[in-house]
Amino acid sequence: MAGKKRPLVVITRKLPDPVETRMRELFDARLNVEDRPMTQPELVAAVKEADVLVPTITDHIDAALIAQAGENLKLIANFGNGVDKIDVAAAAKKGITVTNTPNVLTEDTADMTMALMLAVPRRLAEGANVLTGEKKWAGWSPTWMLGRRIWGKRLGIVGMGRIGTAVARRAKAFGLSIHYHNRHRVLPAVEEELEATYWESLDQMLARMDIISVNCPSTPATFHLLSGRRLALMQPSAYIVNTARGDIIDEDSLVKLIHDGKIAGAGLDVYEHEPALNSKLLKLAAKGKVVLLPHMGSATLEGRIDMGEKVIINIRAFFDGHRPPDRVLPLRT
Ligand code: 8YV
Repeated sequence: MAGKKRPLVVITRKLPDPVETRMRELFDARLNVEDRPMTQPELVAAVKEADVLVPTITDHIDAALIAQAGENLKLIANFGNGVDKIDVAAAAKKGITVTNTPNVLTEDTADMTMALMLAVPRRLAEGANVLTGEKKWAGWSPTWMLGRRIWGKRLGIVGMGRIGTAVARRAKAFGLSIHYHNRHRVLPAVEEELEATYWESLDQMLARMDIISVNCPSTPATFHLLSGRRLALMQPSAYIVNTARGDIIDEDSLVKLIHDGKIAGAGLDVYEHEPALNSKLLKLAAKGKVVLLPHMGSATLEGRIDMGEKVIINIRAFFDGHRPPDRVLPLRT
């Protein structure tokens, strides 16, 4: 980009210092060092002026916002993998390219999925609270704080993309047998490596698993994919883990089924109306039925720096006249 006017890049949230520094070196970068989420009017002002918008999951880049974008806005370089908060079709219609940051958060998110898969059956949060709570720990007993073993159990992965596959690799090492439901069957070599069983029918898989892990993207087709009817197919001893997006699960139904003892528990990192939390989930957490995390599946310093580097690569490639490596195309309806 030497000699060319630097693009005006508006970054909606605070990013790790090394990413922000590099962005300042390369672009006319407008940072949000105070990390105050931008209001919708502030976003409108940003898209009217910027050449590039770098949003995150906390921004709603909907059709109404995109319609108000100025002529300069040519690229929305999302800091994140999921583009469910961006109307990619509306952007494409206006000639705006959208990119995301795949791959670099796969392993971190799979680690956190595994952590939740262990946390609920093995009562990790409950146990930790014993030591920091008001009552003094009375000491060990053979029948106290018994959880459920995960080794030897069946894991059903909903969505066998990059993260689903990374979860499967970890889970196999923990002695779980791997089952999955996906729009397409994965390559035979991957199935073989994971000794994975493919279920064309999600209903049939749900009814037979000990643990379900949700790893598909949020799209109109996956909204409430785990509906009340489907969740009710799960065994009463089964657990469900979600590190993907809250709206893939019908949260009210999940809460009711756990409350009624029809599902054993859940490990959740994402919520249907994030950041608002269903108060009934908090009650279940107090009873040790659910472990709740505040959307931190990919929250490692390394991951966030890698994501920032991907954003930079996408912006540079675009302004150097190349197709950015992580272009997101509108979903085919
Ligand atoms: C990110 C995520 O933290 O990348 C994603 O899709 O869900 C997260 O783990 C977030 O999107 C950052 O914008």
